Amino acid sequence: MSSKKEKIIIFDTTLRDGEQSPGASMTIDEKVQMAHQLKNLGVDVIEAGFPVISEGDFLAVRQIAEEVQGPTICALARAVDKDIEAAAMAVEPATNKRIHVFIATSDIHMEHKLKMTPEQVILKAVSAVKKAKQYVNDIEFSAEDAARSDLSFLVQVIEAVIDAGATTVNIPDTVGYATPAEFGELIGELKSRVRNIGKAILSVHCHNDLGLATANSLSAIANGARQIECTVNGIGERSGNCALEEVVMALKTRQDKFSVETGIETRQLVNSSRMVESITGINVQPNKAIVGRNSFAHEAGIHQHGVIAKRETYEIMRAEDVGFASNEIVLGKHSGKHAIKLWLEKNNIQLNEQETIALSHRVKALSDIQKSVSDEDVFKLLDQQADSPKKEERVPEEATQYLGGRRW
Ligand code: KIV
Ligand code: ZN
Repeated sequence: MSSKKEKIIIFDTTLRDGEQSPGASMTIDEKVQMAHQLKNLGVDVIEAGFPVISEGDFLAVRQIAEEVQGPTICALARAVDKDIEAAAMAVEPATNKRIHVFIATSDIHMEHKLKMTPEQVILKAVSAVKKAKQYVNDIEFSAEDAARSDLSFLVQVIEAVIDAGATTVNIPDTVGYATPAEFGELIGELKSRVRNIGKAILSVHCHNDLGLATANSLSAIANGARQIECTVNGIGERSGNCALEEVVMALKTRQDKFSVETGIETRQLVNSSRMVESITGINVQPNKAIVGRNSFAHEAGIHQHGVIAKRETYEIMRAEDVGFASNEIVLGKHSGKHAIKLWLEKNNIQLNEQETIALSHRVKALSDIQKSVSDEDVFKLLDQQADSPKKEERVPEEATQYLGGRRW
């Protein structure tokens, strides 16, 4: 019996929260180029910018709204009239448009930053939603620092903004403080306590200060959230936001745990990641989940042997499904003769068993003195081996001392 999976809305904020990463500012053309790629990636909502902050951001959002058809184009606004007016004007040309208004609801933010009472915050939130509703129907409201807000107050705010016309209510963990069980429980509580929650989509926006943004987002989904706010490569304020590629691939790979689906074309993940790297100059670390250059690369002999025999021994996803050309067997000091054999096969080179083992010794010796071994290096080693076939038998004296005479 097949049951229909619920859709998770992917709200991409690479061009807004992502752009707020120090050093990640983008030109208008770069934002537009990235927005086209986000459309190819299949995101549902593109948060294109924060129009009131600069003329450039206003123009970028406006051009994206004119050019990028398909996804909903969203603009951010504080709960103040001039922000909402700028956001409305910027998204106006889009076929599907959204205004996203926010105000903080935690005690610390209300007291020290806004210098407002909780009652004033509710009034301001409601009037901002009503104002935005004069321009578009699709209104998102965010309770900034929701994860550190008083629960009863948060319930009150959310009920009021939904009554005022908010169609999505977003629960940010603005400072990345929550833990997965706690954040999931918060979403569950809101689902059961907010009287009119059925009239809005419940969304989450998790920051990664403790490295928990993806885990918190998944926990929120398990407890009823249906929109995830995220960025390509996880870029964003401080340690960044929930990484789009991580949450999407977790949902796809662990369908046994999450009976939901996204509209993401996962084979565009690597392209999208590379575009964010080249536009922002911020590169992902090699071991970055999903899109890191080592994500599908194997250097250890035991792993290489396993993957060559059956890929699933050490891979839970297919490299091709996220947009790599293939997985990779990397030659190095941990690799064994299975990897060498595969390399020889790929390069149409025939060696007998002894020669193969000899070549593997040479590869290991070379990778003791340099970080990686390229194809070019192996070709050179092969030439050396042809010139002096016995050389591989010689083990440096210092090494034999430590190895008790063993040859590696
Ligand atoms: O982190 C945050 O609270 C935000 C809001 C504007 C949604 O980015
Ligand atoms: Zn944020």
